[in-house]
Amino acid sequence: MGSTLAVTGKGGVGKTTLAALTIRWLAERSRHPILAVDADPNTCLDAMLGVEVSSTVGQVREEAKQLAQPGSGASISKEEWLDLKIQQSIVESDVFDLIAMGRSEGPGCYCYANNVLRGVLDRLAKHYGSVVIDNEAGLENLSRRTVQTVDQMIFVSDPSARGLATTRRLYELCQEMDMSAGAMGVIVNRARDVQCLDRARALFTDTKVEILGAIPEDAEVGDEAAAGGAVFSLPAENAVYKALSAILGQLEQDNNL
Ligand SMILES: Nc1ncnc2c1ncn2[C@@H]1O[C@H](COP(=O)(O)OP(=O)(O)OP(=O)(O)O)[C@@H](O)[C@H]1O
Ligand SMILES: [Mg+2]
Repeated sequence: MGSTLAVTGKGGVGKTTLAALTIRWLAERSRHPILAVDADPNTCLDAMLGVEVSSTVGQVREEAKQLAQPGSGASISKEEWLDLKIQQSIVESDVFDLIAMGRSEGPGCYCYANNVLRGVLDRLAKHYGSVVIDNEAGLENLSRRTVQTVDQMIFVSDPSARGLATTRRLYELCQEMDMSAGAMGVIVNRARDVQCLDRARALFTDTKVEILGAIPEDAEVGDEAAAGGAVFSLPAENAVYKALSAILGQLEQDNNL
């Protein structure tokens, strides 16, 4: 059984960037096969990984609604059909596979398809050595439980006192919603000084959340993203990648990755 890492945090803090760089790091460590899960309805992870998603799980769910209509001529079971469609929506690269969740339910609940999909995704995740989930801002889709078990949850925070306080609230919401993970940690992104780590430690001192480290602000990362480049084209010595690699190396040593 592989390890599942989920990245969460408030809007624009760098979740997708760090999720994509984590996939690069895992690939460079030959932690194959790797499944990247884009759980943000505004599918962005594909561009940062240099691939393009053509169909999402949300679209499969919508199609499944049509299949449920009488006279749709379906000859295979709905479960088989969903399994097949999900397989077809996976983007395969040499280095990783990617699945995008797309939009959640449109108008009207379709609980049957959702339940089946959850089972399909859980089964799918079991085939991979590493699963990395990039979440949308906030906790909405964590509560939908895209994948049931998360070994390592990473809260990405900006370094400001307000940003850290928001991260603490997200953690509390997680607790209230009974969403646990094998381990939880905070990465402070775009850090300008080391004091922000002390502030973070002070805020989480009464919890099991570990303050994993800080990542500097680095123009090269922003420029690359603005130019539509993938994280694989960043130089290995890039400051953001180096700082993240040190954090991931520690998580691996602690058996949380
Ligand atoms: N350490 C960093 N240094 C410089 N720029 C960064 C850094 N981390 C992220 N960025 C830039 O910040 C912007 C937002 O990053 P990203 O899309 O990863 O955030 P997000 O949390 O996934 O946003 P959203 O909530 O919209 O999904 C991007 O342009 C990215 O290149
Ligand atoms: Mg994002």
